[in-house]
Amino acid sequence: MITSPLREKLAQILQRKNALTPRYGMEFNPHEMPYDLSRMYPQYPKRHLEIGSGWGEFTLQRAAQAPTELFIALEKKRKRVLRCVKRQQQQGLENIRWMVLDVSWFFQGVFTPGTFHSITINFPDPWPKLRHQKHRFMSQELLNTLTEISHCGALLEFATDFYPYLEEVLLLLEHNRFWRNVHGPGVILPEIAGRPRSYFEELKRSEGAPVYFLQFVKDSAG
Ligand SMILES: C[S@@+](CC[C@H](N)C(=O)[O-])C[C@H]1O[C@@H](n2cnc3c(N)ncnc32)[C@H](O)[C@@H]1O
Repeated sequence: MITSPLREKLAQILQRKNALTPRYGMEFNPHEMPYDLSRMYPQYPKRHLEIGSGWGEFTLQRAAQAPTELFIALEKKRKRVLRCVKRQQQQGLENIRWMVLDVSWFFQGVFTPGTFHSITINFPDPWPKLRHQKHRFMSQELLNTLTEISHCGALLEFATDFYPYLEEVLLLLEHNRFWRNVHGPGVILPEIAGRPRSYFEELKRSEGAPVYFLQFVKDSAG
């Protein structure tokens, strides 16, 4: 998967950043990718992915709710991941693995096709200025990889308080033949009962901001 000196350099940076704890961290080694989690962690029949997991509140709560399932959390900031690893240790949870990964650098080819039963993106950086929009990580390219690594019937959840980003992702998903809006075309949810709240969700709600959720399911065509 490494095709240029620049990618080789980026891979080396990520390899160094992923010197976490072997118990709770996942190594980043492009020469051993794609990772087959069903083979690496056969004790967990269901696997879930979160991208941009931040300080880990959502992942930690979901993992505590489903101790027999595996949660993979990707976050580009190493300090945040280190803090999450510490919290996982404190809480005595076994079923989370963290990886320091910038999905805009590397994502395609990291996991085997059909790996995940759910994918969550909570409050990705909105980059509201027009000239910064190119930094948003949700894109057609990323969606293609998400489609590839999702199991048939997988649930994709996207949450944000920034309506223009929500609209962009809604359009992207509704024009993709592999994904179907669980609640009907165009439906956006203001709340999902029983869903753990991430740090940003709590923050935005405390500021009185509206919060939006999308739930899409991967149909068998994929
Ligand atoms: C606004 S915070 C939200 C954090 C958390 N999901 C929450 O809801 O509290 C966005 C997170 O995405 C991470 N992030 C941004 N771009 C990323 C990328 N390209 N790859 C992985 N993580 C990224 C940031 O470092 C940050 O922790």
